[in-house]
Amino acid sequence: MGERRIEHPVFAALYDRVMPDRFLVGPHREYLAADVSGRVLDLGAGTGAMIPYAADAGDADLEYHAVEPDPNMRRRAAGTADRSDMQVHLRDARAESLPYADDAFDVVLSSLVFCTIADPDAALEEVARVLQPGGELRFLEHIRDNGWRARAQDRLNPLWERAAAGCQLNRETVERFVGYDAFDVLEIERTGVGLFPATPVVRGRLRQQRDLSLSIGR
Ligand SMILES: C[S@@+](CC[C@H](N)C(=O)[O-])C[C@H]1O[C@@H](n2cnc3c(N)ncnc32)[C@H](O)[C@@H]1O
Repeated sequence: MGERRIEHPVFAALYDRVMPDRFLVGPHREYLAADVSGRVLDLGAGTGAMIPYAADAGDADLEYHAVEPDPNMRRRAAGTADRSDMQVHLRDARAESLPYADDAFDVVLSSLVFCTIADPDAALEEVARVLQPGGELRFLEHIRDNGWRARAQDRLNPLWERAAAGCQLNRETVERFVGYDAFDVLEIERTGVGLFPATPVVRGRLRQQRDLSLSIGR
């Protein structure tokens, strides 16, 4: 059976209008893009919101790649790339099955994507595979909260995922990242941005730390 298509035209059309990007998320996008160099992969690029930040912060040897499976988003990302002065190699692909060789990237950027990826464990394995040892996964993600907020997120989630193109309110993404032994944690911090129920929003950096050839049989 084929994979279900990822196509959310209304979500894609509204995305840039509802994201309070410049004032709230902007500083965190700057954090993700800070001093990026080498081969960089933007996972689930959406409308290309990370592109201007990488174009500003990246050095001369930056080679920017992006994957985005939704054609409505991808078209917008291509437009964002055209308006930037940076070449962007944009492909139709999913995080669970990345069309790149092992050790292909120095940095993978994931901003607000692990909430939506259908199989986040498979995606994390793919990120570890395409990152070279010493490479970084830099992320900005909203996660499941604690206490009554978490319970409210669990209840709201069926409705939310329909309205927000498959986004899950209650993913335990930090636990997933920290528990994955291909990565060392460099930094994880809670930000003050976001509106409930898509809070808290965390950001951080993980370093690919091992030779994956040793992991056969994981
Ligand atoms: C909330 S948007 C975030 C877009 C962008 N990264 C940003 O920071 O604004 C989530 C994006 O992930 C994409 N997406 C959904 N499933 C995916 C998958 N399996 N692999 C990669 N991207 C996926 C969606 O199409 C959407 O563009």
